[in-house]
Amino acid sequence: MRASESLELLGVGLANMAWVLTRTGIEWLRFGRSSWWWRLRWAMIRAWPGQTPLGVVRREGPDSGLSSEDLVYGETLPGTAFDLLEALEVGPRDVVVDLGCGRGVVPLVAGLVFGAQAVGLEALEGFVTRGRRTAEILGLDAVEFQKGDFRKGALPPGTVYFLAGTCLQPDSWAAVTRNLAGAAPPRARAASLSQALPSAEWEDLGHREMAFSWGRATVFLHRRRSRPHRSRAAARRAHVRSKGSTGRTA
Ligand SMILES: C[S@@+](CC[C@H](N)C(=O)[O-])C[C@H]1O[C@@H](n2cnc3c(N)ncnc32)[C@H](O)[C@@H]1O
Repeated sequence: MRASESLELLGVGLANMAWVLTRTGIEWLRFGRSSWWWRLRWAMIRAWPGQTPLGVVRREGPDSGLSSEDLVYGETLPGTAFDLLEALEVGPRDVVVDLGCGRGVVPLVAGLVFGAQAVGLEALEGFVTRGRRTAEILGLDAVEFQKGDFRKGALPPGTVYFLAGTCLQPDSWAAVTRNLAGAAPPRARAASLSQALPSAEWEDLGHREMAFSWGRATVFLHRRRSRPHRSRAAARRAHVRSKGSTGRTA
């Protein structure tokens, strides 16, 4: 690596550190009197002694079968997880599923603050074992961590889904959204980052800007449709096709 590249990387690292510190200060002003915020921070420090998420990605990523885009690590900040779950109107009867949960901030906040059941699904074992340890320290029996690939196989059943798919490569995005459409029951809610879920299956409940460990991102809120929806253009095309085929058989 050339000296100029090293300097550029150092600059990016320092700017990111300043961003996270600033956001932590803002969260401290908002949640500093709430015990959940301190308990979560302390539990994560205890569950990750001398370890970092980037260390897990570096160690396990190369053999995981995931592309480097899919392995780009960033995290939902605790206060943002709070805002996001509140926007999705999560309550004690919900089961929140985070698809690619990393250190598990979203499922941990869902259990700790909203009393929901929660599942963190993650491809890398290091996140799963440390997520379980964090939930154990917090005494959250209803928060579990499962190892799995969100592009394949059955997704955990839930009523609320979260997908931080900002950096996913297009094939992975297509596979996980297909899989999610198959798993989510009618009226399930979902939040996706940076791109909206397909409108054929998901009703748009609006979007908002929120802060994440890497900067700001758009959070799209959705509700699962009871039956697939066709855009006007698609309905018109289908109508024209059906008229055409009637014409041929008459
Ligand atoms: C950007 S991080 C987001 C972490 C977490 N959702 C959050 O917001 O704090 C994405 C995570 O998804 C995981 N991941 C990527 N592809 C996956 C896949 N196909 N199946 C399961 N997990 C995956 C990565 O290992 C990483 O931990």
